[in-house]
Amino acid sequence: MGRDVIIACDFNSAEETFSFLDKFSALEQKPFVKIGMELYYAEGPAIVRELKSRGHKIFLDLKLHDIPTTVKKSMSVLSKLDVDMTNVHAAGTTRMMEAAIEGLTREDGTRPILIAVTQLTSTDQEIMEKDLLINEPIDKVVMHYANNAKISGLDGVVCSPLEAKKVHDTCGKDFITVTPGVRFADGDVGDQKRVMTPAQAKEIGSDYIVVGRPITKAEDPVAAYKRCLAEFVD
Ligand code: C5P
Repeated sequence: MGRDVIIACDFNSAEETFSFLDKFSALEQKPFVKIGMELYYAEGPAIVRELKSRGHKIFLDLKLHDIPTTVKKSMSVLSKLDVDMTNVHAAGTTRMMEAAIEGLTREDGTRPILIAVTQLTSTDQEIMEKDLLINEPIDKVVMHYANNAKISGLDGVVCSPLEAKKVHDTCGKDFITVTPGVRFADGDVGDQKRVMTPAQAKEIGSDYIVVGRPITKAEDPVAAYKRCLAEFVD
């Protein structure tokens, strides 16, 4: 499994997305991109097909969470879109995650990488206790959910770069960690609280970093992307 940089295309239209990605057209290897709910709900499956046909690998970040049957059927639709990676909420239970794998697996036995969201980084200990009535330490909950994802047959989790090492220690080094919250040492942190540089994320063993604004809002996005690759992959 090779490390890679995934650019979070947090745009709300195809037009904006293509005008951004056109800047990368001279690159031999098209960037791996993340399509989230905002862009997918705005443009539908057409945006996935178009980006695929332009040669991009795609992480479709829709975070499914529903009854197992619904998730299985939805995953079966998404697998036909030929994305490279997609995800579910581990809170949906091991049965739901197993159903997701079944739905995602194509007739020839292949399937996109499937990862789970453990606890969102917007959830902290207090919110978890008050809103969700979960009283265990958040760290323990995250590792429990990661382990549930592993025993359900998933390939990995989305987690903070600060959790990546512990996830690997708990679930094995082949269990994929996909980590947002990446910033350059000399860059703007913005609204991200717990951040790491691409070089630190590499050192700690992240498999993929998801980078949005440090690339999308850079004066020279291609240079910023290349800097991520140089720090994280090379
Ligand atoms: O712009 P920035 O680099 O902060 O973007 C990070 C991306 O990763 C966004 O698409 C954000 O929604 C996503 N993400 C995150 N934290 C999580 C899960 C996803 O920042 N825990």
